[in-house]
Amino acid sequence: MNRVFSGIQPTGNLHLGNYLGAIRNWVAMQAEYECIYCIVDLHAITMPHDPAGLAQATRDMAAGILAAGVDPARTILFHQSAVTAHAELAWTLMSIARTGWLDRMIQFKEKRGRDAEGPSVGLYTYPVLQAADILAYRATHVPVGEDQKQHLELARDIAVRFNGLYGEGLLTPPLPVIGAEAARIMSLRDGTAKMSKSDPSEASRIDLTDTADAIAAKVKRAKSDADVLPDSAAGLADRPEAKNLVGIYAALAGTSVDAVLAEWGGRGFGAFKPALAEVTVAALAPINAEYVRLRADPGHLDAVLRGGAARAGAIAAPLLREVYNAVGFLR
Ligand code: TYM
Repeated sequence: MNRVFSGIQPTGNLHLGNYLGAIRNWVAMQAEYECIYCIVDLHAITMPHDPAGLAQATRDMAAGILAAGVDPARTILFHQSAVTAHAELAWTLMSIARTGWLDRMIQFKEKRGRDAEGPSVGLYTYPVLQAADILAYRATHVPVGEDQKQHLELARDIAVRFNGLYGEGLLTPPLPVIGAEAARIMSLRDGTAKMSKSDPSEASRIDLTDTADAIAAKVKRAKSDADVLPDSAAGLADRPEAKNLVGIYAALAGTSVDAVLAEWGGRGFGAFKPALAEVTVAALAPINAEYVRLRADPGHLDAVLRGGAARAGAIAAPLLREVYNAVGFLR
C-alpha cells in the first residue's frame, strides 16, 4: 500500500519555496494517495524560538496548508507534539543511528551557529526525529524540496539498519518525491542562496500571506542582471538570478523553462518582471484570500488539527507497539 507523509516547520510564513517545492505536491498527491501531513512543532524548538508565538504559528501554518488546497476531509493534517509516538520512536531509533551518519548532515552544519556551548542536542538529532515521523506511518512516499534529500536518505538508512537488527519488514524505507522543476527556489536577493523562512531579509522571499502590492514590489526589486533572456535553458547556466526568476515563472504558469524562454528570449527584465509579478499574484491571490478567511476561525483550525492528531495517533500506535516488542521491552 502507498502512503504519503510530509512535514513542515511552523516557523515563519509559508513562502513560495515551500509552496512550489513541496506543498503543491502535497495537494496534488491527495488525488492518488492516502496522505498524512504534519506541522513539526517538536522540530521547531531545536532552534531558539518564541514560546508565546508557537501555538499561533502552528495554527497559521495549518491555515496556509489548508488554503493551498489540503483537504482535511480526506487527508490527515496534525501537529507533531499531539502524537507522542514521534518522540517515542525517535528515541528508539537514536539508539541505532550512528553519530557518523549525523555528522554528515548538511543542514546541521548550516544551522549550528557559533554559540560557545554549541547547538542544541535536539538540532543534532533532528534528522532522527524526522525519520521517526515518516517511519511511524510506514509511509512509502515523501514529497519534499531538494534540501531534504539527505534527510530522506538517512531515514532509509535507519529503516534498513533497524530491520537488519530487529526484523525484516518492521519499518518501510521511504522514497523522496522531488519535483523536476522548482525543487529549489532561490532567494530573490541572491540567486545562490535558498529561499528560506530564516532569511532576515523579507525582500528575499515571497510569502503566501503577501498582498498583491507586496508581491509586485518584491518582484520588481528582485536581483536580476542586465542581459536579455536567452532563447533556451542552456543560456541560464551562469546566471543564477535569471535562472531562478524564469524557473519561478515556469512553475507558476505550469509550463517549462524552455517554453518560457521561447516566448521571452531576447527581452530584458524590465519587460519580464511585470509579467512575473502578474503570474505570481494570479497564483497566490486565491490562496491568500482563503488563508485570511481560515485564520479568522482558530476554533476550526484547532478542531482540524485535533481530529488529525487522533487519526494519526491511531495509525502510529500499533507500529510503535511492534517496534517496542521487537527491541524487547517488557510489555
Ligand atoms: P521546512 O519546514 O524547512 O520546509 C518545508 C518544505 O518546503 C521545502 N522547501 C523548499 N523547496 C524548494 N525551494 C526552497 N527554497 C525551499 N525551502 C523549503 C522543504 O524541502 C520541505 O519539503 N525537516 C523538514 C520538516 C520535516 C519533514 C519531516 C519533512 C520534519 N519531518 C518528515 C518530510 C518528512 C523541514 O525543515 O522543512
